[in-house]
Amino acid sequence: LDRPRALSGIQPTAGSFHLGNYLGAVRQYVALQESHDAFYMVVDLHAITVPQDPKELRANTRVAAAQLLAAGLDPERCTLFVQSHVPEHAQLAWVMNCLTGFGEASRMTQFKDKSAKQGADRTTVGLFTYPILQVADILLYQANAVPVGEDQRQHIELTRDIAERFNGRFGQTFTLPSAHIVRETAKIYDLQDPTAKMSKSSATPKGLINLLDDPKVSAKKIKSAVTDTDTVIRFDAENKPGVSNLLTIYATLTGTTVAELEQRYEGKGYGALKTDLADVVVEWVTPFRARTQEYLDDPETLDAVLAKGAEKARAVAAETLAQTYDRMGF
Ligand code: ADP
Ligand code: NA
Repeated sequence: LDRPRALSGIQPTAGSFHLGNYLGAVRQYVALQESHDAFYMVVDLHAITVPQDPKELRANTRVAAAQLLAAGLDPERCTLFVQSHVPEHAQLAWVMNCLTGFGEASRMTQFKDKSAKQGADRTTVGLFTYPILQVADILLYQANAVPVGEDQRQHIELTRDIAERFNGRFGQTFTLPSAHIVRETAKIYDLQDPTAKMSKSSATPKGLINLLDDPKVSAKKIKSAVTDTDTVIRFDAENKPGVSNLLTIYATLTGTTVAELEQRYEGKGYGALKTDLADVVVEWVTPFRARTQEYLDDPETLDAVLAKGAEKARAVAAETLAQTYDRMGF
């Protein structure tokens, strides 16, 4: 195999993926399985950086895998697995913890944001070091490309820094990865606060489109999206973030361009745009939900896909870990 490697992971915690996860990350997973030797995982080890109910975590891990398949991942063309099924992630993470500076880890903005929301007493050391687990996730597969949203850029830079450090100290071992970030969809915004990213921890659930929610609920959220007092439908991320976000979502889900939409909606109001986009979202999520349910209704097939994925992933991960241990003197 001389195709470049791709690696990425998504958390199972919320149950449903949201529209930001899909447009920012999962869509790129699907695209890269054509051009890359791609590894995608449900990162259940990352999920436990905040408290999880074991039964829910187990169920949500399956729901996440089912959604990845429903979104178009093909187990014949990529390796799909669950992070905890491959023990090398935790093993390499320890090595990487010992190569990361405390100050360096303290500069991670995702940690600062998340820990500020949780408060110091509820923030775990695991949350602090989760970017370093991510370093291990990526380096284990010698990944060239890491498809992610904008919020992950800093973690990919950390990964490069640590890979270079290791290679410099112990000899060439790790490939330096690059973030694969598609500019247009790198940051999908909250529908109620279009200056903040759409997130599973959005301040108000009305700002967040969950792909597995009742489509009627999602349609209503689109129709009540915050825009501005102007009436012109034009992409202007700075002055018209709400409308611009809706145009991005619309263009990407329908495979059209923002320019084409601006033309189509010339002289029309925000109401028309929102009504049509609500229909677009309903038409997209309806078959997505059905396909997800089909995978969940066939647990043997899902288990077989994940078992085969873990086996393929482990073969690669074990080789990298053995080489790493050897270089370090273990
Ligand atoms: P969340 O950010 O909601 O907690 P995850 O951390 O599991 O979700 O993110 C999974 C992937 O989705 C990551 O690659 C992340 O960059 C991407 N992502 C998350 N939110 C957005 C968003 N609003 N816009 C674009 N990409 C996003
Ligand atoms: Na994220």
